[in-house]
Amino acid sequence: MASKTLPTGYSGTQIFLHWAIAALVIFQLVFGEDIVEAYRAFRRGTQPTDEAVFDANIHVYLGIAVFVLAVWRIALRLKNGAPPAPAGESAIQKLISKLAHLVLYLAIFLMPISGGIAWFAGVGAAGEVHEIGKPVLIIFVTLHALGALYQHFVARSDVLVRMLKPVRRSV
Ligand code: HEM
Ligand code: HEM
Repeated sequence: MASKTLPTGYSGTQIFLHWAIAALVIFQLVFGEDIVEAYRAFRRGTQPTDEAVFDANIHVYLGIAVFVLAVWRIALRLKNGAPPAPAGESAIQKLISKLAHLVLYLAIFLMPISGGIAWFAGVGAAGEVHEIGKPVLIIFVTLHALGALYQHFVARSDVLVRMLKPVRRSV
């Protein structure tokens, strides 16, 4: 049963999921262009090289892995809740961090879905949405990571530590 009071931190599974998704998303952002050659070739009706197909498959499988982990993660988030914002945080800081979390949650669902529609159904508009996701994600991941470092080193709150050290909970 989900507890009615706010948790003091995240479970080990939630922390594992956060960092696994973070690593995969950053990999996808850095190497995302690896799928473009094969995708363009399929859309033109030409045969991509074996290497381009191999690179594209890595992007597709890792992106699907993000989606699966995101479903697991959102289920735990709904069940366990999240710890409250650190005491003393201003209303504007709370708003920015909430907005960044919302955009990041949306991205870990919408990026695989738009990419999947572009790749499997050949819908060009979905590919365009997917491409817009790249700068949006870069901006919000940067903002989010800087916010976490600010909390740790300047505001000296427990926000970064609680995404590293689990509270006692089975899932
Ligand atoms: C969180 C998951 C994902 C992220 C962060 C991501 C990120 C990216 C990035 C950065 C690009 C390069 C955009 C560019 O510079 O042109 C790209 C392209 C692409 N990705 Fe993904 N991707 C993800 C998941 C997927 C999945 C699951 C699929 C397919 C099943 C997919 C299919 C594609 C396709 C088809 C392109 C080429 C789009 C185009 O050129 O119009 N992606 N992705
Ligand atoms: C790369 C550097 C990253 C750092 C240093 C970092 C750090 C953190 C920290 C410290 C928290 C806890 C915030 C709190 O308890 O109030 C957090 C939460 C969160 N992170 Fe990250 N993160 C990173 C990357 C990412 C990425 C790439 C994503 C997804 C695309 C992501 C999505 C989230 C979300 C959605 C939450 C909110 C969790 C909740 O519902 O409470 N993070 N992150």
